[in-house]
Amino acid sequence: MALHRLTKIVMGVPNPDETAAYYTDFGLAPDNLDATPNAGHTFSTVDGGEQLQVVHNERRRLLQLGVGADDPDDLDRVAASLTDLEVPVERTERGIRAMDPGTGVIVLVEVADRYDQEPTPAPAYNSPGVNARTESRAPGVEREGVVRPRKLGHVVLGSTDQEFSQKFFQRGIGFKVSDTVPGLAAFMRCSTDHHNVLVQQAPVAFLHHTSWQVDDVDEVGRGATSMLEKDPDRHVWGLGRHHVGSNFFWYLKDPAGNFSEYYSDLDCIVDDALWTPGVWEGTRGLFNWGPPPPPSFLAPDDLAELMTGAHQPG
Ligand SMILES: [Fe+2]
Repeated sequence: MALHRLTKIVMGVPNPDETAAYYTDFGLAPDNLDATPNAGHTFSTVDGGEQLQVVHNERRRLLQLGVGADDPDDLDRVAASLTDLEVPVERTERGIRAMDPGTGVIVLVEVADRYDQEPTPAPAYNSPGVNARTESRAPGVEREGVVRPRKLGHVVLGSTDQEFSQKFFQRGIGFKVSDTVPGLAAFMRCSTDHHNVLVQQAPVAFLHHTSWQVDDVDEVGRGATSMLEKDPDRHVWGLGRHHVGSNFFWYLKDPAGNFSEYYSDLDCIVDDALWTPGVWEGTRGLFNWGPPPPPSFLAPDDLAELMTGAHQPG
């Protein structure tokens, strides 16, 4: 069988309590509100169970990334491929683990259940000549309550050795390339999602963003609006629609400096043979429509600080 999804990430930040409060506002369900600093804080999505752990680390970065596989044969195959790349592989109770030297991320490949998402049909939208919804207001404006992310969609990482990181994920772990933006990165998938991991060259290994699926564009907007009502400084970039992956997006910033994205309507690749990977130049590589990306999206404000910190332990 095959790899089929991301399972769980472990995020290291200097301020875990503050950061955990942010992800509670973001709509993730906290599993252990009374966490000790060592245990960290864990969070669940609606469909993915426990998918985020926030722990203390001297500087912000992604510590661990979980990838779900169907059965133990997949683990053997991944272990062999990593060994071919001369990456040390460790067997654990649940799977195998290996570190990508470029991003510093420990990737844990483990046997995990596939997602069984409750089908959520798109609401009826009116369009010219099609009155799909009459005598009622749009569901998106009637909704109340907190937006709850359905699952962890993808992570974007900065690597000091993009070329090797790409090889690590593609040839080592077994990700497939969906699209490429020359000079930036390749969008890689380990599931039917257009992308689950993207690694870009950076002066220091860091976590650029995590991305969380919500039901539709109204939930993207409602989620971000609620976050900004609490603190307008959380805004980074949105609302817009990416060209590569097609998803609606809105990026916000956590108190450690990591971006978190609400997304919906991402491209889905079920039959690899029917998808043609593209090469995207210029702004298309970043977005199709929306406000222009702020410079801090491309080069986060704390990069210089992270580089200084990278010379110290942690
Ligand atoms: Fe994203």
